[in-house]
Amino acid sequence: MTSLKEVFAQKFGAASSTSYFSPGRINLIGEHTDYNGGHVFPAAITLGTYGEARKRNDQKLRFYSENFKELGVIESSLDELVYKKEDSWANYAKGVIKYLKAAGHTIDTGLEVALYGNIPNGAGLSSSASLELLIGVIAEDLFQLELTRLDLILIGKKVENEFIGVNSGIMDQFAIGMGQKDHGIFLDTNTLKYEMVPVKLGKYVVVIMNTNKRRELADSKYNERRGECEEALRRLQTKLAIQSLGELDVATLEANREVIGDEILFKRALHAVSENQRTIEAKKALVAGDLVAFGQLLNASHASLKNDYEVTGLELDTLAETAQVQPGVLGARMTGAGFGGCGIALVEEKQVPAFKEVVGAKYLATVGYACDFYEAHIGDGSRKIEEEA
Ligand code: GLA
Repeated sequence: MTSLKEVFAQKFGAASSTSYFSPGRINLIGEHTDYNGGHVFPAAITLGTYGEARKRNDQKLRFYSENFKELGVIESSLDELVYKKEDSWANYAKGVIKYLKAAGHTIDTGLEVALYGNIPNGAGLSSSASLELLIGVIAEDLFQLELTRLDLILIGKKVENEFIGVNSGIMDQFAIGMGQKDHGIFLDTNTLKYEMVPVKLGKYVVVIMNTNKRRELADSKYNERRGECEEALRRLQTKLAIQSLGELDVATLEANREVIGDEILFKRALHAVSENQRTIEAKKALVAGDLVAFGQLLNASHASLKNDYEVTGLELDTLAETAQVQPGVLGARMTGAGFGGCGIALVEEKQVPAFKEVVGAKYLATVGYACDFYEAHIGDGSRKIEEEA
């Protein structure tokens, strides 16, 4: 196998100066709460994106990814930081450079970057946020920029929202930028206060289950759900002095069902509010070492995403619901935006082989193609690395 350093030298005709890594993420619980002022509980994983980079002497930006070999080296320049469809994945990199400059940071020469990612493609483990933060730490290091981690996280989110046009919340960039080995990040998306919580699972492991379903309609459906939550909030605000759904508890929401006056909008709000409460409970259960209660909250989260938020579908339901009833499983749910992508399950380690076999067979028989499994290891956030990638 050719190392990424060799790839860099082949593509750009000289050695790279530095190596970097940026993780993907899973979300333990707290789904579709980050744009509703609620809590999330994600973690960075050891799968992610590796980068080799070097400054140039001119204004050119040159990007190459081993995951998109057919696109070759994608060229742009510091005077041309606009979205271009044909620039494909490199738009994320251009967006980061654009917003760093717009925030007043001095990037006076171009750069070249070669990448390789081992996050499965389109799996909902945040390969795009991983890439944004990777380019962020590369620019921070090569140009000696004075940035806090939160600055980089917010720039990544801005790229997603304004340069790419997906109205996502802050969870993915936050998890990827702040990740810490063996810790979940319990984040209040309303205040951005957060707590690093040790994830101690004893004899259990987190298994990632990939539906291998393409997430084609995911972005438009995502924006639609977000709009529904905003509309439910707007109606509630005619009576309640609240800024976000995250401020409500389920009892208050139920008492104001008539104010929303629409069954679908009510269900969307019910998910946002109940999921926020489950996330707070789940963090308490994990801290108390009550893994059984934690697992039950994962199951309840999936049911709410299926019935009230309606973002699961046959593939995710088959995986989560089959997983939930296997021996040695404490809980299972979809993770990320939904509509496809991945689920996670908390499985007793010695049961993992049997788990994969039974859940894999059931998925194939129900859906018609295979799913994949990976064991998730919780790792550190985006960073420069000294050893070879
Ligand atoms: C995607 C978004 C996040 C979050 C999740 C759902 O991953 O990028 O901001 O909204 O979906 O929890």
